[in-house]
Amino acid sequence: MILPANQWYPVLESREVGRRPFGVERLGARLVFWRTADGFPHAHPDRCPHLGAALSGGRIEADRLVCPFHGFEFDGQGRCVHIPANGRRRKIPEGMALPSLVLREAHGFIWLWRGEIRDLYPELPYFAPLETGWRHGTVAVDWPVHYTRAIENQLDVAHLAFVHRSTIGGGGRAFVEGPYVEADQQDIKVWVTNARDEGQATRGVAELKAAAAGREPSLHFKFPGVWLLNLSPRLKNFIAFTPINERKTRYYLRVYHRYLNPLAAKPFEALMGLSNRFILNQDKRVVVTQTPRESPPPGEDRLIEADRAIARFRTLHASLLEEAGSAGPADGGE
Ligand code: FES
Ligand SMILES: [Fe+2]
Repeated sequence: MILPANQWYPVLESREVGRRPFGVERLGARLVFWRTADGFPHAHPDRCPHLGAALSGGRIEADRLVCPFHGFEFDGQGRCVHIPANGRRRKIPEGMALPSLVLREAHGFIWLWRGEIRDLYPELPYFAPLETGWRHGTVAVDWPVHYTRAIENQLDVAHLAFVHRSTIGGGGRAFVEGPYVEADQQDIKVWVTNARDEGQATRGVAELKAAAAGREPSLHFKFPGVWLLNLSPRLKNFIAFTPINERKTRYYLRVYHRYLNPLAAKPFEALMGLSNRFILNQDKRVVVTQTPRESPPPGEDRLIEADRAIARFRTLHASLLEEAGSAGPADGGE
Protein backbone atom coordinates (compact mmCIF):
# COMPACT_ATOMS: atom_id res chain seq x y z
CA MET A 1 0.00 0.00 0.00
CA ILE A 2 1.31 3.45 -0.92
CA LEU A 3 1.68 5.59 2.20
CA PRO A 4 3.93 8.37 3.47
CA ALA A 5 7.01 6.54 4.76
CA ASN A 6 9.20 7.21 7.78
CA GLN A 7 6.18 7.90 9.95
CA TRP A 8 4.65 6.48 13.10
CA TYR A 9 1.18 5.06 12.46
CA PRO A 10 -1.24 4.40 15.33
CA VAL A 11 -2.43 0.91 14.38
CA LEU A 12 -4.20 -0.59 17.39
CA GLU A 13 -5.44 0.37 20.80
CA SER A 14 -3.20 -1.05 23.51
CA ARG A 15 -6.02 -3.09 24.95
CA GLU A 16 -6.48 -4.98 21.68
CA VAL A 17 -3.15 -6.75 22.10
CA GLY A 18 -2.74 -9.31 24.87
CA ARG A 19 -1.25 -12.68 25.58
CA ARG A 20 -2.88 -14.27 22.55
CA PRO A 21 -1.70 -13.82 18.97
CA PHE A 22 -3.89 -11.21 17.33
CA GLY A 23 -4.13 -11.22 13.54
CA VAL A 24 -5.19 -7.99 11.86
CA GLU A 25 -4.81 -6.12 8.58
CA ARG A 26 -3.00 -2.80 8.87
CA LEU A 27 -1.30 -0.53 6.31
CA GLY A 28 -2.17 -3.03 3.60
CA ALA A 29 -0.49 -6.03 5.25
CA ARG A 30 -1.67 -9.02 7.31
CA LEU A 31 0.10 -8.72 10.65
CA VAL A 32 0.21 -10.65 13.90
CA PHE A 33 0.57 -8.83 17.24
CA TRP A 34 1.33 -10.37 20.63
CA ARG A 35 2.97 -9.54 23.96
CA THR A 36 5.80 -11.19 25.81
CA ALA A 37 5.50 -11.67 29.59
CA ASP A 38 7.37 -8.39 30.18
CA GLY A 39 4.36 -6.64 28.60
CA PHE A 40 6.15 -5.54 25.44
CA PRO A 41 4.17 -5.75 22.21
CA HIS A 42 5.60 -7.42 19.11
CA ALA A 43 4.43 -7.49 15.51
CA HIS A 44 5.37 -9.54 12.47
CA PRO A 45 3.90 -10.34 9.08
CA ASP A 46 1.23 -12.95 9.80
CA ARG A 47 2.97 -15.67 7.83
CA CYS A 48 5.15 -18.48 9.07
CA PRO A 49 8.46 -18.68 7.17
CA HIS A 50 8.14 -22.48 7.09
CA LEU A 51 5.06 -23.19 4.93
CA GLY A 52 3.20 -19.90 5.18
CA ALA A 53 0.51 -20.64 7.76
CA ALA A 54 -1.03 -17.71 9.64
CA LEU A 55 0.71 -17.38 12.98
CA SER A 56 -2.31 -15.59 14.41
CA GLY A 57 -3.98 -19.02 14.53
CA GLY A 58 -1.27 -20.26 16.86
CA ARG A 59 -0.63 -19.66 20.55
CA ILE A 60 1.83 -18.14 22.98
CA GLU A 61 3.74 -20.59 25.12
CA ALA A 62 6.64 -19.87 27.44
CA ASP A 63 7.01 -16.40 25.88
CA ARG A 64 7.19 -17.76 22.37
CA LEU A 65 4.86 -17.41 19.45
CA VAL A 66 4.04 -20.94 18.32
CA CYS A 67 2.89 -21.72 14.78
CA PRO A 68 -0.29 -23.85 14.67
CA PHE A 69 0.94 -25.94 11.73
CA HIS A 70 4.20 -27.66 12.76
CA GLY A 71 4.86 -26.00 16.09
CA PHE A 72 7.87 -23.82 15.16
CA GLU A 73 8.55 -21.36 17.99
CA PHE A 74 9.57 -17.70 17.60
CA ASP A 75 10.75 -15.18 20.17
CA GLY A 76 9.83 -11.48 20.37
CA GLN A 77 12.58 -10.54 17.91
CA GLY A 78 11.17 -13.03 15.44
CA ARG A 79 14.03 -15.52 15.80
CA CYS A 80 13.06 -19.14 15.39
CA VAL A 81 14.14 -20.87 18.60
CA HIS A 82 12.69 -24.35 18.21
CA ILE A 83 11.70 -26.68 15.38
CA PRO A 84 9.99 -29.68 16.96
CA ALA A 85 10.48 -31.98 13.94
CA ASN A 86 14.23 -31.35 14.05
CA GLY A 87 14.58 -32.07 17.74
CA ARG A 88 16.59 -30.08 20.29
CA ARG A 89 20.04 -31.04 18.97
CA ARG A 90 19.84 -29.86 15.41
CA LYS A 91 20.81 -26.27 14.64
CA ILE A 92 18.11 -23.81 13.53
CA PRO A 93 18.70 -23.21 9.82
CA GLU A 94 19.99 -19.81 8.76
CA GLY A 95 17.23 -17.40 7.75
CA MET A 96 14.45 -19.22 9.61
CA ALA A 97 13.07 -16.03 11.15
CA LEU A 98 10.17 -13.60 11.08
CA PRO A 99 10.66 -9.93 10.24
CA SER A 100 10.02 -8.00 13.45
CA LEU A 101 8.36 -4.60 13.05
CA VAL A 102 9.35 -1.48 14.98
CA LEU A 103 6.70 -0.58 17.57
CA ARG A 104 6.08 1.91 20.36
CA GLU A 105 3.31 1.95 22.89
CA ALA A 106 1.98 5.24 24.26
CA HIS A 107 -1.25 7.21 24.75
CA GLY A 108 -3.22 3.95 24.78
CA PHE A 109 -2.10 3.05 21.24
CA ILE A 110 0.37 0.72 19.58
CA TRP A 111 2.37 2.72 17.00
CA LEU A 112 3.99 1.07 14.01
CA TRP A 113 7.01 2.60 12.30
CA ARG A 114 6.62 2.45 8.55
CA GLY A 115 9.91 3.25 6.88
CA GLU A 116 13.64 2.71 7.06
CA ILE A 117 15.28 1.19 10.11
CA ARG A 118 17.10 3.88 12.11
CA ASP A 119 19.14 4.28 15.25
CA LEU A 120 16.97 7.11 16.40
CA TYR A 121 13.28 7.53 15.63
CA PRO A 122 11.28 10.76 15.74
CA GLU A 123 8.83 11.41 18.55
CA LEU A 124 5.33 10.02 18.27
CA PRO A 125 2.97 12.49 16.64
CA TYR A 126 0.58 13.33 19.45
CA PHE A 127 -0.98 16.37 21.07
CA ALA A 128 0.89 17.88 23.99
CA PRO A 129 -2.27 19.35 25.61
CA LEU A 130 -3.58 15.80 26.16
CA GLU A 131 -0.62 14.68 28.25
CA THR A 132 -2.08 15.11 31.73
CA GLY A 133 -5.37 15.49 33.55
CA TRP A 134 -7.61 13.99 30.89
CA ARG A 135 -9.75 10.89 30.68
CA HIS A 136 -10.97 9.36 27.48
CA GLY A 137 -13.41 6.84 26.05
CA THR A 138 -12.87 5.24 22.64
CA VAL A 139 -15.10 3.80 19.94
CA ALA A 140 -13.72 2.19 16.78
CA VAL A 141 -15.46 2.15 13.42
CA ASP A 142 -14.33 0.91 10.01
CA TRP A 143 -15.26 2.81 6.86
CA PRO A 144 -14.99 1.49 3.30
CA VAL A 145 -12.95 4.51 2.18
CA HIS A 146 -9.35 5.43 1.44
CA TYR A 147 -7.67 7.19 4.38
CA THR A 148 -7.19 10.42 2.39
CA ARG A 149 -10.97 10.80 2.03
CA ALA A 150 -11.52 10.05 5.71
CA ILE A 151 -8.99 12.66 6.81
CA GLU A 152 -10.15 15.34 4.39
CA ASN A 153 -13.70 14.97 5.62
CA GLN A 154 -12.49 16.00 9.09
CA LEU A 155 -10.67 19.04 7.66
CA ASP A 156 -13.71 20.12 5.68
CA VAL A 157 -15.32 23.15 7.32
CA ALA A 158 -18.00 23.83 4.68
CA HIS A 159 -20.09 20.67 4.97
CA LEU A 160 -21.66 21.09 8.39
CA ALA A 161 -24.80 23.00 7.40
CA PHE A 162 -25.59 20.32 4.81
CA VAL A 163 -24.38 16.95 6.02
CA HIS A 164 -25.11 17.68 9.68
CA ARG A 165 -28.21 19.83 9.21
CA SER A 166 -30.10 17.79 11.82
CA THR A 167 -27.27 17.71 14.40
CA ILE A 168 -24.20 19.93 14.85
CA GLY A 169 -24.83 21.88 11.63
CA GLY A 170 -28.29 23.21 12.47
CA GLY A 171 -29.19 26.90 12.20
CA GLY A 172 -28.20 27.41 8.58
CA ARG A 173 -24.65 28.58 9.39
CA ALA A 174 -23.35 27.83 5.91
CA PHE A 175 -21.03 30.85 5.68
CA VAL A 176 -17.43 29.99 6.54
CA GLU A 177 -15.42 32.65 8.35
CA GLY A 178 -11.92 31.72 7.25
CA PRO A 179 -10.55 29.23 7.75
CA TYR A 180 -7.17 30.50 8.81
CA VAL A 181 -4.65 27.70 8.34
CA GLU A 182 -1.10 27.31 9.62
CA ALA A 183 0.94 24.32 8.52
CA ASP A 184 4.40 22.84 8.52
CA GLN A 185 5.65 19.42 7.37
CA GLN A 186 3.83 17.49 10.12
CA ASP A 187 0.98 19.73 11.33
CA ILE A 188 -2.09 21.48 9.98
CA LYS A 189 -3.84 23.91 12.35
CA VAL A 190 -7.19 25.39 11.46
CA TRP A 191 -9.10 28.30 13.01
CA VAL A 192 -12.67 28.69 11.78
CA THR A 193 -16.16 29.88 12.65
CA ASN A 194 -19.37 29.17 10.82
CA ALA A 195 -22.06 31.84 10.60
CA ARG A 196 -25.32 32.66 8.88
CA ASP A 197 -24.78 34.54 5.65
CA GLU A 198 -25.95 38.05 6.40
CA GLY A 199 -24.06 39.64 3.56
CA GLN A 200 -20.99 40.16 5.74
CA ALA A 201 -17.69 40.88 4.02
CA THR A 202 -15.10 38.14 3.72
CA ARG A 203 -12.17 38.73 6.03
CA GLY A 204 -8.67 38.79 4.59
CA VAL A 205 -5.89 36.50 5.76
CA ALA A 206 -4.21 39.20 7.90
CA GLU A 207 -7.46 39.81 9.76
CA LEU A 208 -8.07 36.09 10.24
CA LYS A 209 -4.54 35.65 11.51
CA ALA A 210 -4.97 38.44 14.05
CA ALA A 211 -8.23 36.86 15.25
CA ALA A 212 -6.51 33.46 15.67
CA ALA A 213 -3.58 34.86 17.68
CA GLY A 214 -3.42 33.41 21.18
CA ARG A 215 -6.35 31.06 20.59
CA GLU A 216 -6.19 27.29 20.36
CA PRO A 217 -6.94 26.11 16.83
CA SER A 218 -10.43 24.74 16.23
CA LEU A 219 -8.87 21.75 14.48
CA HIS A 220 -5.40 20.31 14.61
CA PHE A 221 -4.17 17.49 12.35
CA LYS A 222 -0.82 15.74 12.59
CA PHE A 223 0.58 13.51 9.89
CA PRO A 224 0.24 10.71 9.25
CA GLY A 225 -3.14 10.48 10.97
CA VAL A 226 -4.22 12.04 14.27
CA TRP A 227 -6.78 14.80 14.57
CA LEU A 228 -8.08 16.93 17.42
CA LEU A 229 -11.21 19.05 17.61
CA ASN A 230 -11.28 21.62 20.40
CA LEU A 231 -14.88 21.70 21.57
CA SER A 232 -14.17 23.55 24.82
CA PRO A 233 -11.30 23.87 27.30
CA ARG A 234 -12.63 20.72 29.00
CA LEU A 235 -13.78 18.71 26.02
CA LYS A 236 -12.07 17.48 22.86
CA ASN A 237 -12.82 15.00 20.13
CA PHE A 238 -9.90 13.01 18.84
CA ILE A 239 -9.52 10.63 15.90
CA ALA A 240 -6.67 8.31 14.98
CA PHE A 241 -7.04 7.39 11.31
CA THR A 242 -5.64 3.93 10.70
CA PRO A 243 -5.29 2.73 7.11
CA ILE A 244 -6.37 -0.92 6.94
CA ASN A 245 -5.88 -1.23 3.18
CA GLU A 246 -6.54 0.78 0.00
CA ARG A 247 -10.28 0.47 0.53
CA LYS A 248 -10.73 0.56 4.26
CA THR A 249 -9.90 2.93 7.09
CA ARG A 250 -10.40 2.48 10.82
CA TYR A 251 -11.33 5.42 13.03
CA TYR A 252 -10.35 5.31 16.67
CA LEU A 253 -12.66 8.01 17.87
CA ARG A 254 -12.03 9.33 21.35
CA VAL A 255 -13.65 11.87 23.54
CA TYR A 256 -11.14 13.52 25.90
CA HIS A 257 -12.65 15.23 28.92
CA ARG A 258 -11.92 16.39 32.43
CA TYR A 259 -14.72 14.74 34.37
CA LEU A 260 -12.41 12.82 36.58
CA ASN A 261 -14.97 11.06 38.74
CA PRO A 262 -15.34 7.62 37.13
CA LEU A 263 -19.03 7.47 38.07
CA ALA A 264 -19.73 10.52 35.95
CA ALA A 265 -17.07 9.82 33.35
CA LYS A 266 -18.22 6.43 32.06
CA PRO A 267 -21.81 7.37 31.19
CA PHE A 268 -20.58 10.65 29.71
CA GLU A 269 -18.09 8.82 27.49
CA ALA A 270 -20.76 6.34 26.41
CA LEU A 271 -23.16 9.15 25.51
CA MET A 272 -20.53 11.12 23.61
CA GLY A 273 -19.45 7.93 21.82
CA LEU A 274 -23.02 7.33 20.67
CA SER A 275 -23.58 10.86 19.48
CA ASN A 276 -20.18 11.05 17.73
CA ARG A 277 -20.94 7.82 15.92
CA PHE A 278 -24.28 9.16 14.82
CA ILE A 279 -22.67 12.35 13.49
CA LEU A 280 -19.92 10.38 11.77
CA ASN A 281 -22.54 8.23 10.03
CA GLN A 282 -23.94 11.39 8.50
CA ASP A 283 -20.50 12.04 6.98
CA LYS A 284 -20.10 8.46 5.84
CA ARG A 285 -23.21 8.53 3.65
CA VAL A 286 -21.58 11.21 1.49
CA VAL A 287 -17.89 10.37 1.76
CA VAL A 288 -18.39 6.84 0.37
CA THR A 289 -19.78 8.43 -2.82
CA GLN A 290 -16.71 10.58 -3.55
CA THR A 291 -14.71 9.83 -6.67
CA PRO A 292 -11.95 9.05 -7.32
CA ARG A 293 -11.62 6.66 -4.37
CA GLU A 294 -8.34 8.27 -3.28
CA SER A 295 -8.33 12.07 -3.06
CA PRO A 296 -6.80 13.54 -6.23
CA PRO A 297 -3.42 15.30 -6.40
CA PRO A 298 -3.27 19.07 -5.80
CA GLY A 299 -4.81 21.12 -8.57
CA GLU A 300 -7.37 18.60 -9.81
CA ASP A 301 -10.55 19.48 -7.89
CA ARG A 302 -12.01 22.97 -7.98
CA LEU A 303 -11.36 24.05 -4.43
CA ILE A 304 -12.70 27.23 -2.80
CA GLU A 305 -11.35 29.42 0.03
CA ALA A 306 -13.19 27.34 2.62
CA ASP A 307 -11.13 24.34 1.48
CA ARG A 308 -7.79 25.81 2.54
CA ALA A 309 -7.15 23.02 5.05
CA ILE A 310 -7.94 20.35 2.47
CA ALA A 311 -5.65 22.07 -0.02
CA ARG A 312 -2.83 22.05 2.54
CA PHE A 313 -3.43 18.40 3.32
CA ARG A 314 -3.17 17.51 -0.37
CA THR A 315 0.07 19.42 -0.92
CA LEU A 316 1.73 18.10 2.23
CA HIS A 317 0.54 14.55 1.66
CA ALA A 318 1.85 14.65 -1.92
CA SER A 319 5.24 15.94 -0.78
CA LEU A 320 5.50 13.29 1.97
CA LEU A 321 4.75 10.57 -0.57
CA GLU A 322 7.35 11.92 -2.91
CA GLU A 323 10.05 12.61 -0.37
CA ALA A 324 10.03 9.30 1.47
CA GLY A 325 8.86 6.82 -1.14
CA SER A 326 6.31 4.24 -0.19
CA ALA A 327 8.14 1.03 0.68
CA GLY A 328 8.62 -0.08 4.23
CA PRO A 329 8.98 -3.10 6.47
CA ALA A 330 5.23 -3.12 7.16
CA ASP A 331 4.70 -4.15 3.56
CA GLY A 332 5.23 -7.68 4.77
CA GLY A 333 6.49 -8.66 1.35
CA GLU A 334 3.15 -8.00 -0.31
S1 FES B 1 3.94 -23.51 8.61
FE1 FES B 1 4.50 -22.78 10.53
S2 FES B 1 5.56 -24.38 11.42
FE2 FES B 1 5.09 -25.11 9.45
FE1 LIG C 1 -18.73 15.91 9.34
